[in-house]
Amino acid sequence: MIDVKELRKRYDGQAVLDGVSATFARGEVVALVGPSGGGKSTFLRCLNGLESFDAGSVRVGGDTLGPGCGRSQGAVLGRIRQRVGFVFQQWHLFAHRTALGNVIEAPVFVRGLGVREATERGRALLARVGLSHRESAYPAALSGGEQQRVAIARALAMDPEVLLLDEPTSALDPERVGELVDLLAGLRAEGLTMVAVTHEMRFARELASRVLVLHGGRVIEEGVPDEVLTRPNHARTRAFLGLDRSARG
Ligand SMILES: Nc1ncnc2c1ncn2[C@@H]1O[C@H](COP(=O)(O)OP(=O)(O)OP(=O)(O)O)[C@@H](O)[C@H]1O
Ligand SMILES: [Mg+2]
Repeated sequence: MIDVKELRKRYDGQAVLDGVSATFARGEVVALVGPSGGGKSTFLRCLNGLESFDAGSVRVGGDTLGPGCGRSQGAVLGRIRQRVGFVFQQWHLFAHRTALGNVIEAPVFVRGLGVREATERGRALLARVGLSHRESAYPAALSGGEQQRVAIARALAMDPEVLLLDEPTSALDPERVGELVDLLAGLRAEGLTMVAVTHEMRFARELASRVLVLHGGRVIEEGVPDEVLTRPNHARTRAFLGLDRSARG
């Protein structure tokens, strides 16, 4: 589904992605974990062309993005963004549109769907995320958990094949985390491919089929959650998970 080869990116002379290769199969759910500043968000943003890179390639289905952000890549970018949805950490909802307005915006203005059909589908998506009763509310009047679910419904409105989520649980209290896990587990059951950056190990354990650990712009470890999160090979992963401390204590 997604094939990333030797991705490299520097900021101010500093390598943020230092040759990252990874593949994400259709229907797979992968958790990206690792210490702060390790390049997780940068990597995720490269997967749907929100960020350009210096070397390497990102292939999504039959479309391949290369280095830079040349005009020649415009058509490829457009296709990739339709296939790969993104849910931002801070959601970035349109403040001047209602919950329903947020969900139908892209189908109507990007895809050219009729308002009536988009509204019907938008309502079904809001029902899906448990927000039918809030369709007329503006983001400012929604709780963090509600805004996040609108953001997920908005991403799903474009029928993505892959959903990327950057720290989806970071602004949620523990109860809401459980609801989000349930919601995403439902999407997983329908075969949606997901890649999520997370600091929440419960989230990684309950949802992911595979965990990638990014550190210093490289994948230093990967495997099934049970292995990587309980018996990591790499000292940096053990330190990040606090396992060395508990082993001593
Ligand atoms: N626009 C930018 N300009 C300069 N440096 C940047 C920019 N964006 C990110 N960086 C740097 O790149 C490195 C990786 O950042 P990134 O946001 O990908 O890390 P992360 O793993 O997502 O961290 P966190 O867990 O804190 O979100 C950091 O050192 C960061 O300061
Ligand atoms: Mg980040």
